[in-house]
Amino acid sequence: MDSIKIFIPATVSNVTCGFDILGFPVEAPGDIMIFRKTEKKEIHIIRIKGADNLPYDADKNIAGVVSRKMLEEAGMPFGLEIEMEKGIKPGSGIGSSGASAAGTAVAVNNLLDSRFSKKELVPFAMLGEISASGTRHADNVAPAIYGGFILIRSYEPLDIIRLDYPGDLYCAIIHPMVEIRTKDARDILKKNLALKNAVKQWGNVAGLIAGLFRKDYDLIARSMEDVIAEPVRSLLIPGYDRLKKAALQAGALGCGISGSGPSVFALTRGEETARRVKQALSRAYKNTGINYHTYVSKIATDGVKILSDLNSV
Ligand code: HSE
Repeated sequence: MDSIKIFIPATVSNVTCGFDILGFPVEAPGDIMIFRKTEKKEIHIIRIKGADNLPYDADKNIAGVVSRKMLEEAGMPFGLEIEMEKGIKPGSGIGSSGASAAGTAVAVNNLLDSRFSKKELVPFAMLGEISASGTRHADNVAPAIYGGFILIRSYEPLDIIRLDYPGDLYCAIIHPMVEIRTKDARDILKKNLALKNAVKQWGNVAGLIAGLFRKDYDLIARSMEDVIAEPVRSLLIPGYDRLKKAALQAGALGCGISGSGPSVFALTRGEETARRVKQALSRAYKNTGINYHTYVSKIATDGVKILSDLNSV
C-alpha cells in the first residue's frame, strides 16, 4: 500500500465525571486525512483545509510529530506527504487534536503493514496531544483508535478497556464558535482535590460504568455529575447553565462539557430524544449572538475508518 485515505471521528472525552479516563467517538463530524509514501525520507504537510492556524512545519504539526516518531521507530523506510481536511475545528472540545494524532497513528501503521498493535498506537498518538496541549492524555485518541465507549483505567502502564453500553445511547452536541485551548482549560483547574469531592467523583465514575453495563438509564443519569472540572471550566463557556438546563428539561440523561470545551454534550436514551435535546440546545443559544453547530449521533462503535487505499481507486 502506497497511500491511504481515512476518516477520523470527533470524540467526546471526560463524559462528565471521567476526567482524562472516559471517552467515545461520534459518527460525525470528523476529519479526512490522506497519506502518501514518498521515496525521499522526509515528511511534508502539503494541504490543510478547514483550519487556518495549523502549522505546515512537520516538526510542529501533530501529524508530522506522530508520523516522524513512528517512521523513526520503524527505521525510516519511506517519507510522507500528508493532507488534512479538518471537519473538527481546533479548540472545539470534540477532539480536534486527538483526531489528527489518532488518524496519523492508524494511517501510518497501515502503511507500515500493521507493525504496531492498536495498544501500541495510543502512546504514539498521545505524543500529538503533548505537542498540542502539553499533556499526555488518551481520552480522545484511544476512543478514536478503538471505537466504542473507552475507559483508560491506567496510564502507567497503559490499560485501555472497551466498555459495554446500551445500543440506544445517543448523544447531542452543541459547538459554540468560541475557541478554548485545552492548555488554558487545564491550567485553570485546581491541582488539589478535597477528599469529599474525590469521593463524589469516583462514586459517579463507578456508577456511570455500572449503569452502562447494566443498561440502567436512571443510574447513568444520576452518575453524570462532575464536581472537579465543570465548576471551573463552565465559566469559560458562554450560556453554559442555560444549555445544561435546556438539555435536561428536554429529556437528556445528563449533560456536561465535552473534553475541555466549549462544546457541550448530552446523553440520551434513543435518537428521538437526542433530536429534541439538540433543538433545545439550539433554542437556548439562539440569542447569544454566537454562531454554533449542533450534532446528533449514536456512540460510534468504529474509530478511524479507512476510506480507500488510493492505489485501488
Ligand atoms: N481530558 C482532557 C481535558 C480532554 O479535559 O483536558 C481534552 O480534550
